Amino acid sequence: MDFTPEIKRATRSIYEKVQKKIPEIEWATHAPYIYKINKLKKEKNAVILAHNYQTPEIYHGISDFSADSLALAVEAAKTKADIIVMCGVHFMAETAKLMSPKKKVLLPDMQAGCSLSSSITGEDVRKLKKQYPGVPVVSYINTSAEVKAETDVCCTSANAVKIVESLNVKKVIFLPDDFLAKYVASQTDTEIISWKGTCEVHEQFKDEEINEIRKANPGIKIIAHPECPPDVIQASDFAGSTSGMIKYVKDNQPEKVMMVTECSMSDNVQIDNPNVEFIRPCNLCPHMKRITLPKILNCLENESNELVMDDQTIAKARKSVERMTEIGR
Ligand code: 13P
Ligand code: SF4
Repeated sequence: MDFTPEIKRATRSIYEKVQKKIPEIEWATHAPYIYKINKLKKEKNAVILAHNYQTPEIYHGISDFSADSLALAVEAAKTKADIIVMCGVHFMAETAKLMSPKKKVLLPDMQAGCSLSSSITGEDVRKLKKQYPGVPVVSYINTSAEVKAETDVCCTSANAVKIVESLNVKKVIFLPDDFLAKYVASQTDTEIISWKGTCEVHEQFKDEEINEIRKANPGIKIIAHPECPPDVIQASDFAGSTSGMIKYVKDNQPEKVMMVTECSMSDNVQIDNPNVEFIRPCNLCPHMKRITLPKILNCLENESNELVMDDQTIAKARKSVERMTEIGR
């Protein structure tokens, strides 16, 4: 596609925003897609929802709403658009379909998975329920619809502690993130039975790395996602969901910050907080990075890669997500 003078003019204001992160030479390849996608989404009454880990050309260039997984689920339920394009991973698109079953939900790359989601099946949950009869199941939103269908209530990293405490019970089965389970256990008296899932991106962080960065950067604020190992969270100043971390930076405007999470997010947040210096550990989520502008344009143009789920799974799985959104953040 050509970077015509018209496209250059039409995308100038977006480029001004992202120019510190996207070199001009690269912009020439992104801009024609951004122009076409933004035009097409209006024509088709489509909405583009993007997770905070998407790259700047998606996050700042074409998304109508970018957020953490809790807010994406809530937004999917209330959108008036006919088509939802989910720039995120498979479980996020599935959750959007659960919340808006009558809408066409498209995922630009069906292979965009998640190591947490693929760590557990519906059959595994059924076995656990037999092993611990009567113990409620709380599942992280990073799970398949099949797992959600076996779940009492979902949670995200933004509300995991609140959800567990809302059940008012002595013990819960908390799936599948073992590190998030440990984080929740550190914040509540409820006994947590966990699963051995981990996020392949966050498990790579080490507390020695955090301590070294702190030593080399006096005064730095280090903020971590609760999918990180417990010693990393302990070595950090704050732990929260991706949107919780963004809010921390916006509200506190630290001189220097390190976000211990997927590294595209630092680029996105730096654009909105030009006075904050970001020290960036660079762990990328290979699943999130499968989503690209050409794939977004392709699925929107052809209305391809549609999420199709049977009514029974939708009805069962939806309950656990709705119960979570009723409790909120
Ligand atoms: P958030 O809900 O905090 O956005 O996290 C989703 C995720 O996949 C983090 O790895
Ligand atoms: Fe899954 Fe981790 Fe990627 Fe988030 S960052 S989508 S938890 S693999």
